[in-house]
Amino acid sequence: MTSLAPAQSALEPAGVQAAHVEELFWGYFDVAALVFILVLGALVVALAKRRTPDAPERKKPVVIGATVITAVTLVVLLVMSVVTGRALASIAHADAVKVDVTGYRWWWKFEYPDAEPSKIVTTTYELHVPVGRPIELRLRAADVIHSLWVPSLSGKRDLIPGKNTTLLLRADRPGRYEGMCAEFCGLQHANMRFVVVAETQEQFDAWRAAALAPARPPADAVAQRGQDVFMKSRCPVCHTIAGTEARGTVGPPLTHVASRRTIGQGTAPNEVGHLAGWIVDPQSTKPGIVMPGTPFASEDLMALLAYLGGLR
Ligand code: CUA
Repeated sequence: MTSLAPAQSALEPAGVQAAHVEELFWGYFDVAALVFILVLGALVVALAKRRTPDAPERKKPVVIGATVITAVTLVVLLVMSVVTGRALASIAHADAVKVDVTGYRWWWKFEYPDAEPSKIVTTTYELHVPVGRPIELRLRAADVIHSLWVPSLSGKRDLIPGKNTTLLLRADRPGRYEGMCAEFCGLQHANMRFVVVAETQEQFDAWRAAALAPARPPADAVAQRGQDVFMKSRCPVCHTIAGTEARGTVGPPLTHVASRRTIGQGTAPNEVGHLAGWIVDPQSTKPGIVMPGTPFASEDLMALLAYLGGLR
């Protein structure tokens, strides 16, 4: 399952935002470790002492001293936290790549806006970003509260119905970084995953151009039959395949479905057997999702798989 498990650790930052979060973590860790050692030391001293109660005038300065140290420590932790929060929000982002992110139960839609509607790229699962450039994720929720978190790249930010939020991040190393929903949102919350693909500007531009292209037409008679099966079924009600009559927006776009590594947002590998099972009975792979099963005749199903397999 290695191909399904990209980097996902807040302690291995691949971007400046995540580095701030990691610094804060170790700052808190150091303070907590120091406090732990001091408290244990005080306990040992107390146990070793004679069992005679101290006079009140001897206790008083100790209590006052401990209170002051505690207050100062809490203020220092607060300042560290506020400084980190400000650093996270203050990345220079004049030339940011903007992405409109919508959280659905239980998948992510990524739209790269453009002044020309025909140049808007819409994808799911894989969020492609150029390395070294700030990314401005404009977050909205379609149904319930979700939360977007890519531990290797940034802190998390909630997606709240009716209230748009923004998250800035920057990937400083190329790679694949796993993201997930970090706010419980129902049955398949744990399978609401995605991957940030950080690549060079050239690779990103090439990907964007490919993503913008309409779906490949069926390559042979079997795939053609598969397309007919798709269009005559209820699939187009929910799914879009750019360049065809399928324009549904309830579920993820399928224009380039064959280029994704997984189906169901990381639930299963995108292999023909899993895809067949998914089409016939998605509820047994990902119970609770909107998509109903469709009992296609086996020849229709094989044709449909051939068609979808060609949508690279
Ligand atoms: Cu969406 Cu949890």
